[in-house]
Amino acid sequence: MLFDPKPKESRKDLFDRENELMELKNSIEQGPLITLCIGVRRSGKTSLIRTFMNEYRYPSLYLDARKLSDYGYSRAGFLRLIADGFNEYRGLVDKLKDHLKKIKGVRISQIGIEFEYSSRDVSFSSILEQLDRYAEKHETIFLVVFDEAQELRFLSGYRRLDIRKIIAWSYDTLHNIKFILTGSEVGLLHEFLGFSDPESPLYGRVKNMVTVDRFSKEKSLEFLEVGFNEIGFSPPKEVLETVVEKLDGIPGWLALYGYTVAQKKRFDVLEEVLEEAITLALSEISKLKKYSELYLYVLRAIAIDCNTWKCIKNYIETKTGKILANARLYYILKNLENFSIITKENDEYVFLDPIYREASKRL
Ligand SMILES: Nc1ncnc2c1ncn2[C@@H]1O[C@H](COP(=O)(O)OP(=O)(O)OP(=O)(O)O)[C@@H](O)[C@H]1O
Ligand SMILES: [Mg+2]
Repeated sequence: MLFDPKPKESRKDLFDRENELMELKNSIEQGPLITLCIGVRRSGKTSLIRTFMNEYRYPSLYLDARKLSDYGYSRAGFLRLIADGFNEYRGLVDKLKDHLKKIKGVRISQIGIEFEYSSRDVSFSSILEQLDRYAEKHETIFLVVFDEAQELRFLSGYRRLDIRKIIAWSYDTLHNIKFILTGSEVGLLHEFLGFSDPESPLYGRVKNMVTVDRFSKEKSLEFLEVGFNEIGFSPPKEVLETVVEKLDGIPGWLALYGYTVAQKKRFDVLEEVLEEAITLALSEISKLKKYSELYLYVLRAIAIDCNTWKCIKNYIETKTGKILANARLYYILKNLENFSIITKENDEYVFLDPIYREASKRL
């Protein structure tokens, strides 16, 4: 169902991403080792990748790095994440059994793969080596997909893991492994990977980018029409036009509207959907307060169209009664860009999503 609120897993539920699927395919088959999938929040990055994995059926590992916040940003937490990736599809471990058995500290049982977390022998590179051999033997490509890959940055540190180094090593050594990296905090992802940062292990390595854009106005209308048709609803065109205007072509919010209509069996739910979307966005941006109250002031300023550097600075200084150092404001704005909340257009800071703007007015 097009309006299912979960990330999509198959082509029949994924609206209009044929070009992006093709771009991904070309990138995996002919492009460099690393493909980045980028796009604003809720644009459908996870859906695109999950569908791609299911449709094209390369042997693959899907790893959602958010789980590390639960498993721990440690070697053991990372291995648990990898084990989950293997165990997600029953057939995968069976297929790879002979190769995985060669890695010390790996146990294969009825439930799937387990790692001896204490064993220093289990390393991500030894796993990749075996996946590479499997792919070579079967004349295929093994895909390693990191969703929310910006989270991997917390893994590096003393006696921990720098995934970038292992990717760089894989880049130089292995020939049948490809990485897809995506995340909702695009700036952080770029910063972490550091393709143009001489300090980064990935500096200068070639990557490809697949962008998942929001839908155009026409596509948004078509998305709603096709989705409603699928569930036997026929909403008036004017209603849909208002919905598209308010939700600005962001697939996640459009799907939420459709889903809510399907649940409540009426069309006048835009206000409720906006409220839900704003509440979601608000809970996300409110978390920034624990880093600094300044984030909230900056967001509030931009939300009321005080969006030049000078205006934001004046706004904060008036509100707090304190002088704000330029470096501090620069840091806060840069981070908000990195989190994919705002962007800079012609010297003005603007929200990427009107929902976040509305949420910021309530901070
Ligand atoms: N092309 C599409 N067709 C149908 N539904 C879609 C499409 N793209 C996104 N959606 C829906 O929008 C919502 C968000 O999609 P998804 O989680 O894939 O986006 P995302 O870009 O990964 O989001 P985030 O930035 O939060 O990680 C989900 O409900 C998904 O089902
Ligand atoms: Mg996602």
